[in-house]
Amino acid sequence: MIKKYVYGNPFPTDAVVKDIEKAEDKMPFFETDGYGGFTYNLAENDIVYGLGEQIRGINKRGWQYISWNYDNPNHHEDTHSLYGAHNFIIISGKSTFGVFFDYAGKIEFDIGYTQRSIMHIKAAKNDLAVYIITGKNEKDIVRQFRNIIGRSYIPPLWAFGYGQSRWGYKDEQDIRNVAKEYKSAGIPLDSIYLDIDYMERYKDFTVDKERFPDLEKLVQDMKSQGIHLVPIIDAGVKIEEGYDVYEEGVQHNYFCKNADGEDFVGAVWPGRVHFPDFLQPEARKWFGSKYSVLTDMGIEGFWNDMNEPAIFYTEDRLADTCAEIEKLTSGNMGINEYLTFTGMVAGLNGNIGDYDKFYHNVNGEMVKHSEVHNLYGMNMTRSAFEALQEICPEKRTLFFSRSSYIGAHRYGGIWQGDNKSWWSHILQSMQQLPALNMAGFLFTGSDTGGFGCDTTEDLMLRWLQYSLFTPLFRNHSADGTRRQELYRFDNVKAAAEMIKIRYSLIPYLYSEFLKSAMNDEMMFKPLAFDFPDDNMAKQVEDQLLLGNELMIAPIYKQNAQGRYVYLPEEMMLARMKSRNDYQTEILPKGHHYVDVSLDELVFFIRSKKAVPFDKTDESTSKADIHSLELLGYPDSSYELYSDNGYSPEPEDSLTVSTLYCAE
Ligand code: GLC
Repeated sequence: MIKKYVYGNPFPTDAVVKDIEKAEDKMPFFETDGYGGFTYNLAENDIVYGLGEQIRGINKRGWQYISWNYDNPNHHEDTHSLYGAHNFIIISGKSTFGVFFDYAGKIEFDIGYTQRSIMHIKAAKNDLAVYIITGKNEKDIVRQFRNIIGRSYIPPLWAFGYGQSRWGYKDEQDIRNVAKEYKSAGIPLDSIYLDIDYMERYKDFTVDKERFPDLEKLVQDMKSQGIHLVPIIDAGVKIEEGYDVYEEGVQHNYFCKNADGEDFVGAVWPGRVHFPDFLQPEARKWFGSKYSVLTDMGIEGFWNDMNEPAIFYTEDRLADTCAEIEKLTSGNMGINEYLTFTGMVAGLNGNIGDYDKFYHNVNGEMVKHSEVHNLYGMNMTRSAFEALQEICPEKRTLFFSRSSYIGAHRYGGIWQGDNKSWWSHILQSMQQLPALNMAGFLFTGSDTGGFGCDTTEDLMLRWLQYSLFTPLFRNHSADGTRRQELYRFDNVKAAAEMIKIRYSLIPYLYSEFLKSAMNDEMMFKPLAFDFPDDNMAKQVEDQLLLGNELMIAPIYKQNAQGRYVYLPEEMMLARMKSRNDYQTEILPKGHHYVDVSLDELVFFIRSKKAVPFDKTDESTSKADIHSLELLGYPDSSYELYSDNGYSPEPEDSLTVSTLYCAE
């Protein structure tokens, strides 16, 4: 059952797509203070799941989280905000229920941080809708919630292939080389990503003609090798006379405004930019129509970036900072002056005060950005998705975004933002997956190998052994860091085998993805969601159930040659160096230490289950469900969902078939 409680005058976020009548009774579970504050008393063993893309564990207890979409490539345990705002949690324990705080501005979740047994949620203003969801269990609560927020985006099948990306592929030759090197190393590759380097001076919907003289031909040449090129589009539009996107945006008032009605100026990669007002339907339509510049060249997928929106600095703040710095540095800089100086410089990027300085035009009314901040990225992806439905109505386009709010899951996937080549960021990515699925985000994954910092061969191999299970499987890294294309490592063979295993598992991953999207289920679940009476399962933070057949338990520690794994039931361990060289072994319920060498993948098949496995596939364009074998328990069966991989509605070509595992 879902009940909606309305406080004040909430801004319509479009997160919920079903009509739910406003409840008139007093909201259960929480004490409310009338100022946007909600308090719940946590019992000692209560678990709090959710918050989507956030830091820390699967169980969110013991920290303070702030939903305020924020560009933070340096995040770690001490961080409070990341790129998305996903305000849905499930409290599981003394009472089990879900709650969604539908609020577009800043909202804080103190989950037993200030006081261990108190959860206090505080919205910046008392203008919000709160949905309380009760049900049979956690999965039922998720199903009901997902039902009211609308079906999750389903990407084309090719998006499940392996992708290579790097900020810093400077020209056409770089791209051709990547394709060539992957081919000669015998590593399958379905996509290469184009970062901001392909644009002319970082201007959206332009192509640098010197470095990419014939992008259309490049797109076609790559496609003939089964490789899709996927360009980035950023939120900020460069201010430059004669640049059509800039000129049109100014002319039609499609950009966000200052209080005095001028177009607001921020600075991002291109220097000074305006931000499209994605909250205006006309501006969305206009910006979305621009994607045809690239789809006309044969492009079939995009990633949307810097759409929190990220602001490196605003001119006013920069001027104030420079003036202040001049004063600070004119004399002998003592410790206080020095700290003020470094703080001011660091405080330019993403300064929260800058988000109070601009406005959206919502049906003629000027709405301050900070009050609707968390909706910006969602509406950027919405703009692209809705336009592409008209531009290319016959097929799905790949979209994923960096910033998001619940509702964005209908328009595209998200990648988990800028991470680092740190071991802890493998675990962090894994811990976000169930919470993201709860909020509807199914198509997701991390920058494999790590975006910032220098990766190492062992980190890359372990990361591959985790990411090969995530729907979005992309190796991405920052300019200036160690190169991490797989063919550069000594043990290319091990990396190649991991990628091939991914391709063997795509029929399963895609089938479970379709089931999750079509039936409002989670693809990645905490163990306790399927084993609710198992106290040990409730504490497991580094293993996940994947679909209904698998459990994954990746290695995320350097130099580890194995790890402890908890099996909540008897399971079949599968150990693979390659898809043709594997062993299985049945292990009883309980704790086990499992050896896992660096070139080996280990995962678990649940009791009496099996998964489809394709030993030959090397490209999503050649996938053939008739060559599937079943891997798992003898006499078991698997219900396979498949479709043509591109029709906008999967129902139009869906096949459900039962595969049987021979004795
Ligand atoms: C942002 C993105 C990153 C990209 C970079 C340059 O940091 O998150 O993925 O490579 O910008 O475009």
